[in-house]
Amino acid sequence: MDVVVFGASGNIGKEIARELVSRGHSVVGVTRGGGAIDTFTGTVQAGDVTDPEQVAKIAQGRDAIISAIGPRHGVDDGTTLFIDAALGLIGGARLAQVPRVLVVGGAGSLEIAPGVRLVDTPEFPEAWKQDALAQATSLELYRGVDDLDWTYVSPAAIIEAGDRSGHYRTGRDQLLVDEDGESRITYADFASAVVDELEQSNSVRRRMTVAY
Ligand SMILES: NC(=O)c1ccc[n+]([C@@H]2O[C@H](COP(=O)([O-])OP(=O)(O)OC[C@H]3O[C@@H](n4cnc5c(N)ncnc54)[C@H](OP(=O)(O)O)[C@@H]3O)[C@@H](O)[C@H]2O)c1
Repeated sequence: MDVVVFGASGNIGKEIARELVSRGHSVVGVTRGGGAIDTFTGTVQAGDVTDPEQVAKIAQGRDAIISAIGPRHGVDDGTTLFIDAALGLIGGARLAQVPRVLVVGGAGSLEIAPGVRLVDTPEFPEAWKQDALAQATSLELYRGVDDLDWTYVSPAAIIEAGDRSGHYRTGRDQLLVDEDGESRITYADFASAVVDELEQSNSVRRRMTVAY
């Protein structure tokens, strides 16, 4: 497939771009600056995910859009970025007539019990709360979209560097935890799950989550 990856220089986006290339997909990586990405030998373009016209121009004629954008820590305001990015991606995908959109979201909106989200628990780190709530709002924006084949992919509560084991579990709106009660995934296994979803379309127009 011919895929555009927004946020291709980020921790998660880099791994998604790497996984796509390793499976023979054609990838254009997008960042705001458009500079070279150390782990990625494909084409990199400059573009702002919050601008539907820029998204459309870059995505035109491709098979899918993947977004792993996020606010640069201490630099960007995530509370507006996540909403503006959702609007940019939805608008851009419609303009370019690229129906398949996969979005890396947050774990905060996953439920730990019926009607109780992770972000609402007292243990949820205060520093991440506003971004997590904005991510939750962006999920609701996608849930209102019925003319695109979107998938919103929430990582486990902890996503970190580590090996690609080739194993992971997927769920829907509930936080997945392992036998020790931990919710974890590596960037590499998460990327593998995102590309599997791109290739298999098992979770179209819904949220999925990925954890061990
Ligand atoms: N457990 C969790 O819930 C969890 C944990 C970690 C991450 N996440 C989510 O996963 C996503 C990615 O996280 P990450 O840690 O990989 O992010 P990151 O390393 O900070 O990378 C962010 C990426 O987004 C790009 N970007 C930012 N604003 C952009 C814009 N307006 N237009 C185009 N590109 C833009 C950045 O590129 P430039 O700065 O070069 O433009 C960079 O490539 C975020 O949504 C984050 O909330 C969730």
